[in-house]
Amino acid sequence: MKKVGLLTVMALGTVMLSGVSVRAQNQAEGRKLYASYCATCHGDKGKGDGMAAKSLPAKPTDHTNGAVMNLHNDKFLMDIISKGGSAVGKSSFMPSWGGALEEKQIRDLVAFIRTLAVPAYKPEAPTAK
Ligand code: HEC
Repeated sequence: MKKVGLLTVMALGTVMLSGVSVRAQNQAEGRKLYASYCATCHGDKGKGDGMAAKSLPAKPTDHTNGAVMNLHNDKFLMDIISKGGSAVGKSSFMPSWGGALEEKQIRDLVAFIRTLAVPAYKPEAPTAK
């Protein structure tokens, strides 16, 4: 009986811990994906100053600019990342990643991008329209 109780406690602990780390991991995963796929244009720190930025006719968005980035909801960000700039009326020099990345990876990217904005992004309150 004692053993079962201990196991239950351990199982609960694992569930709680993994809940926390899944969230942290998403951003960490997003950071890695960003470095591999996005930094060439958007820059290592997301400032829109990546190596390729200078040779593009459209300036890659500065993801640290909260005044711009915080206007977008997550759905918009998911859309532009998976379908590309032209699908949402922006520059086609923002490529589409839906073919290369899974939806979960795009979600992780959004989670990471959200950590860059200054001032920090505040998700809309559920009651907001
Ligand atoms: C080839 C260069 C290039 C790469 C690589 C690239 N982007 Fe972009 N991205 C752009 C450009 C250029 C724009 C600006 C489009 C505009 O303003 O019309 C943009 C815009 C965006 C926006 C829209 C922000 C806004 O202004 O509304 C998001 C979000 C974004 N990129 C995310 C990403 C992510 C995530 C990746 C990596 C998976 C990525 N981009 C890779 C060039 C690139």
